[in-house]
Amino acid sequence: MQKNKKKIPLHVAIIMDGNGRWAQKKGKIRSFGHKIGFKAVKETIKFAIKNNIKVLTLYAFSSENWKRPKLEVISLLKLFLFTLNNEIENLNKYNICLKVIGDITFFNKELQLSIYNAEKKTIKNSGLTLNIAANYGGKWDIVQGVKKIIADVRNGYLDINQIEEETFSQYLSTSTLLPVDLVIRTGGEKRISNFLLWQIAYSELYFTDILWPDFNKFIFQDAINYFSTRKRRFGGFIEDQK
Ligand code: IPE
Ligand code: IPE
Ligand code: MG
Repeated sequence: MQKNKKKIPLHVAIIMDGNGRWAQKKGKIRSFGHKIGFKAVKETIKFAIKNNIKVLTLYAFSSENWKRPKLEVISLLKLFLFTLNNEIENLNKYNICLKVIGDITFFNKELQLSIYNAEKKTIKNSGLTLNIAANYGGKWDIVQGVKKIIADVRNGYLDINQIEEETFSQYLSTSTLLPVDLVIRTGGEKRISNFLLWQIAYSELYFTDILWPDFNKFIFQDAINYFSTRKRRFGGFIEDQK
């Protein structure tokens, strides 16, 4: 368990919700909201770097988002592809290491290649880890972890009696990342929508009605301030914890 002396969250995970409603309010199509939402992503990344946040996980596309109208899905995936291909220089400039979690085998080959390429080209960067959850579902993550752990038991690499909670964490897609300290959800809903499940057992949760394209450094700061006032007990009891 890490000590947060200054109480800055080291790993912030964000459910970027409200793009569609933001666009509709302006009389535009939902995809316009996704496009403008990318500006909020950039501001969020800059804030994270400035504030020494080590890992930023962004929920970009859920395993349930395939249920959306086909045109919206296509435009979301196109935006993802375009961004991956065009932002690599910026990622390197800001020393950002890009990682994608989720079942990317559902994506077309071109997008899969762009993901591998962006991950490979930024793997040595030692600054912020930008973790994009794409075709990600918390339930999927647990199931894929179970499958891998069973395979390791079967091939004799792992003894079933040695499986602890920490062992299982190593089989999740977030195995290399710091624990999630803070989850932020924009867009007014107070639910997790199959984002990280196992990983947020003791995360602090911050909900705001702000729609994602309107998210900015001031609202991010509000979330950090909220986090800094939380007494994280992890089930224990700390008498003089400030
Ligand atoms: C979140 O905004 C972005 C994605 C799911 C990719 P929405 O598209 O869910 O916007 P609302 O919630 O309908 O306003
Ligand atoms: C959660 O938003 C998923 C992402 C932000 C990628 P949704 O808009 O899909 O969630 P629900 O349907 O309101 O629960
Ligand atoms: Mg939504």
